[in-house]
Amino acid sequence: MELLKNKILECGIVLGDNILKVDSFLNHQIDVPLMRAVGKEFAEKFKNDNITKIVTLESSGIAPAFAAAEEMGVDVVFSRKNQSLTLNKNSTELVYSEVFSFTKNVTSTIYISRKHILPGDNILIIDDFLANGEACKGLISLIQDLGATVAGIGIVIEKSFQKGRSLLEEQNIKVVSLSQIKSLKNNTIEFLN
Ligand code: G4P
Repeated sequence: MELLKNKILECGIVLGDNILKVDSFLNHQIDVPLMRAVGKEFAEKFKNDNITKIVTLESSGIAPAFAAAEEMGVDVVFSRKNQSLTLNKNSTELVYSEVFSFTKNVTSTIYISRKHILPGDNILIIDDFLANGEACKGLISLIQDLGATVAGIGIVIEKSFQKGRSLLEEQNIKVVSLSQIKSLKNNTIEFLN
């Protein structure tokens, strides 16, 4: 997606050899016209997949997921990482999964309420970054435990030099990334195509 790639080149800041800082349009401030374009692109890519709901992980996945959901006419469920005042952690209403982040070297517990995803739902997962695929792995496990199907995964920025895509493709899931970064070495952003 050219608009997105140009924004990454214009505003992305490379940190070390592995991390791309995109706080100015995705991870802190949100570029609303860009997110709307991202939503349209996801809607086009998954238009034949009979998506009934979009699932993402708080917090940075919510903006692209919302934009896609608006285009596709479905609702979004964001898996939570933080304690909620209104959701009882011990309740059988909630389904949990553990997500280990290689980037942050922490394990977090993510959860979704059974009320919002029904057996038979055909889910599109959307997330901001695909690095090692751990977040998507956790979401897939939650969705399957809820009796629903993962029909596809939409990613805004894929770091193709990390193992996320191959981990997801091993499960025969359709993965669409709107930008694919081949390398961040030497302070240079290089795309795969
Ligand atoms: P993985 O899910 O693909 O295995 O990724 P990983 O655990 O390595 O990433 C953990 C967190 O770091 C995620 O955000 C992910 O979006 C983010 N991340 C990974 N690589 C990059 C990068 O190069 N640049 C930026 N900006 N973020 C990266 P999170 O903890 O869920 O945070 P948030 O959604 O609350 O922002």
